[in-house]
Amino acid sequence: MVTTNRSRVVVVGTGQVGSAVASSIVLQGLTNELVLINHNPGKARGLAMDLADGSEFLGRFVSIRHGDWDDCSQADIIIITAGPRPVEGRNRLDGLMAAVDIVTPMLDRIRESGFDGILIMVSNPVDVLSWYAWKRTGLPRAQVIGSGTALDTSRMKTIIGEVTGLDPRTVSGYVIGEHGDSQFIPWSTVSFVGKPFARFLADNPGRYPGVSLNGIENATRRRGDEIKNRRGGTSYGIASTVSGLVKTILWDERRVIPVSTLIDGEYEYGERDVFLSLPIGLDGNGANEFTDLHLTAEEMERFHHCAEVVRSHCALIAD
Ligand code: LAC
Repeated sequence: MVTTNRSRVVVVGTGQVGSAVASSIVLQGLTNELVLINHNPGKARGLAMDLADGSEFLGRFVSIRHGDWDDCSQADIIIITAGPRPVEGRNRLDGLMAAVDIVTPMLDRIRESGFDGILIMVSNPVDVLSWYAWKRTGLPRAQVIGSGTALDTSRMKTIIGEVTGLDPRTVSGYVIGEHGDSQFIPWSTVSFVGKPFARFLADNPGRYPGVSLNGIENATRRRGDEIKNRRGGTSYGIASTVSGLVKTILWDERRVIPVSTLIDGEYEYGERDVFLSLPIGLDGNGANEFTDLHLTAEEMERFHHCAEVVRSHCALIAD
């Protein structure tokens, strides 16, 4: 007798980001069932049809359909991508009020459905909205995460890969804090071919002209805006990132990825009631266990600054 576990992932929002996330999940065959929800059901249906049309040529069959809030009760993972369109020249925090208006009824429907899986917030400003989703749904803290700086971490590795000509996966380390302008790279966490990346640069003087730690950090921070200015928004980087989170959770991988999670007095961080990204173990139970990174005094100051930025925006929507 074989025990089969059918997995269901729900993607809420079928704009650029939701479509790319759904596509990435289908192409990798990560789930048995994918349900798409949009305030315009016709649009969700169209995307489901379009994605399903390639089934013959994909590695694994995924049942894809559009659905509604009742489908959330049996979902393992719900991914929220809905939000206002990005506006040129405005940062992620500027869209907060419009985003709250959009996600509030969604979170209420999710709560009413009895959903008890993992909620992944992708909509921006993601740290503030993850905190809001945690409060509003009443889900346990381990079950609410934001995509956070998982994407910025991948961007940092991509940039180091571009600079050195090596596979970005050679880099280990993290971008932490806010998925926004206050994010930063604690360089003590970044290693490359077996040594700190800073040491690698120092060991190769003149080999990478114009490359500096500050330059890489700034390019990482600006990369989302740069893509937005060139093509109106980002979609594929975030889609690969979010499908990576889905895989880690559904396949119970226990991979450590920096995602936005509740920090409430733990370890060295000295922060409470705020969602920020730190590397955390992800598995079928959600986000569990982070650790002291032993940040330097300057890095800790930057971490507190991230917390202030996010918390001051949470205060605007606290009820
Ligand atoms: C980005 C969006 C997801 O940085 O915030 O691409």
